[in-house]
Amino acid sequence: MAENDRKMHYHDYLHIDQILSAQVLESEKAGRKPAHEEMLFIIIHQTYELWFKQIIHELSSVVRMFNVKEVDERNIGVATGRLRRVIEIQEVLVSQVRVLETMTSLDFLEFRSYLFPASGFQSFQFRQIEAMMGLEEEHRLRYGPKPYHTQLHSDQAGEIQDLEDADSLFECMENWLERTPFLHLGDFEFLKYYKQAVEDMIAQEKKFIQVSTMDQDEKDRHIAMLEANSGYYEMVLDESKHAEMQASGQVRLSYKASMAALLIHLYRDEPILHGPFNFLSCLKDMDEMFTTWRYRHAQMVLRMIGRKVGTGGSSGHDYLRNAASQHQVFKDLYNISTLLIPRSSLPPLPTEIKQQLGFYFTSTDV
Ligand code: HEM
Repeated sequence: MAENDRKMHYHDYLHIDQILSAQVLESEKAGRKPAHEEMLFIIIHQTYELWFKQIIHELSSVVRMFNVKEVDERNIGVATGRLRRVIEIQEVLVSQVRVLETMTSLDFLEFRSYLFPASGFQSFQFRQIEAMMGLEEEHRLRYGPKPYHTQLHSDQAGEIQDLEDADSLFECMENWLERTPFLHLGDFEFLKYYKQAVEDMIAQEKKFIQVSTMDQDEKDRHIAMLEANSGYYEMVLDESKHAEMQASGQVRLSYKASMAALLIHLYRDEPILHGPFNFLSCLKDMDEMFTTWRYRHAQMVLRMIGRKVGTGGSSGHDYLRNAASQHQVFKDLYNISTLLIPRSSLPPLPTEIKQQLGFYFTSTDV
């Protein structure tokens, strides 16, 4: 067919008939008066699933770009743009909970019994997103004796297993960070400077606590907390401490990758690090938006069904709230903020390192 003979029609291109015939009310099928709100309940879930599809489309492309021996530098900007799109979609996902909340819990009870044992817990695409991001079975909250795969159709469970075995976004990011040239610091004794800067920062914070208007007990409590927290820096200063924390599950990211992430955060004002910094920030934003959605969903569920158990058999609200706090993937990136020191204490990078990083065209500092 010649190019100009094509007669594409809006309805055919978008398969509108297929989409519009996919709302089948169980209350109606049961021979009862259709529950008015069931239409909203179905459409909102379908809308979520369509957005999940778009998110998967974006995340798979980002994983592909990063799952290589050497990431093409130009792809960092492309990947960041795609993650930004995911974050915008997540904003929509969170805000459309309000639409569902125009249904009251009494309205919901008109058709809820028809749903058993179906549940959002069985959403294959939601599980795909989690697996692609890097949420592993061992870090998941269980609400029954069996792993979550068993709730999926068997072919889907196999696909999820394959996704879990493949490199996730977390692993791709970790490998990419480990390869950063920034780790080859040569004679530049970053850790020596860093240790001093951390000690100075803590000493200054202690001084501020001592001269504050708090009573002595309160000051002692603050200082004790500060000292307990300062052990956290050991994770960077001492690789074996990091290994211990990794073994006990306190951190997941490797030592090398954590160091690279710290350096990127500390020296993010250097032009060549803008891209990597923005990419890492997007990963954090995306993770945070999923957590926000999880809390928002849990809150909506509490309002909708109170303390009733879920149709999928979980404790309902309690399970969802706990999953929201536990199912974060990029926790280690948030922890980097604990390790930051003020810009003013940052050791200047030696010229040869700047050059290695490609700063040939940068003018002298202003
Ligand atoms: C009246 C509205 C809703 C109620 C009462 C509700 C309730 C629940 C409950 C109780 C669970 C825990 C599993 C279970 O025992 O069933 C759950 C899980 C889930 N729901 Fe909903 N939900 C509602 C709407 C939605 C919507 C609109 C979506 C969008 C896709 C959704 C997606 C999910 C997902 C993905 C999970 C699994 C979460 C996880 O395991 O971390 N739910 N829901």
